[in-house]
Amino acid sequence: MQKSNKAILKDIKAVLEFYQALGFERLPLKTIQDTGYKIQDTKSCTMNHASCIVHRASPLNSGQKETALKELRDEIGDCQRCKLSKGRKNLVFGEGSVDAEIMFIGEGPGEEEDIQGRPFVGKAGQLLTSLITKMGFKREDVYIGNIVKCRPSFNRDPEDDEINACLPFIEKQVEIISPKVIVSLGRISTQTLIGMKTPISKIRGHFHTFNDIPLMPTFHPAYLLRNPKDKWLVWEDAQKVLERLNK
Ligand code: URA
Repeated sequence: MQKSNKAILKDIKAVLEFYQALGFERLPLKTIQDTGYKIQDTKSCTMNHASCIVHRASPLNSGQKETALKELRDEIGDCQRCKLSKGRKNLVFGEGSVDAEIMFIGEGPGEEEDIQGRPFVGKAGQLLTSLITKMGFKREDVYIGNIVKCRPSFNRDPEDDEINACLPFIEKQVEIISPKVIVSLGRISTQTLIGMKTPISKIRGHFHTFNDIPLMPTFHPAYLLRNPKDKWLVWEDAQKVLERLNK
């Protein structure tokens, strides 16, 4: 006999509670190879949830990536999914090369980003751009995004409900771009992507994974503006990323 939707939901709830009791904050998504699931065309799911994101068996070409990103931007639309929408001037989707080998993921737009609708264009952004250049790339060669796409007022930390409302979109951007390495900038980005509350000072400099992609946590450029003596640590982390890329 087929289970009712209510019974299925009850089963899912029990499994999630089990993982929660074990201390998991997020469940890793399995790859096609791991699960043997049939490939689901991401376009066929109109729901904005992470469970609809599956790894594709073959990578998208550049044109397909451009189209998928445009479709994602359309799907986000004039977003009102969380309270950050109330205070924003512009939604900051993200920008860069669809064929980027590295994807930098920050926390959320600041004042200047909110005005321009582009990520990392303020003072912290200038520092990030100079790091990218020192690593041997142009800013246009990499992809830059954020955990939340609208500015939290007074640059406060984004709250859990805001992060959860926006997370499927950066997950989808990662899936589309499929970079070789992700660099998570700062505590919020790192803790969100790896699903652990470890302090950034302890976790930085060591590779983790996000949906099977190597992820290097490092300090946020805004932190470096306040603590320039720690720039060399970020440079050490960047060198590990370059080694991973065989550069
Ligand atoms: N800080 C971030 O985390 N992201 C930006 O886009 C700008 C500043």
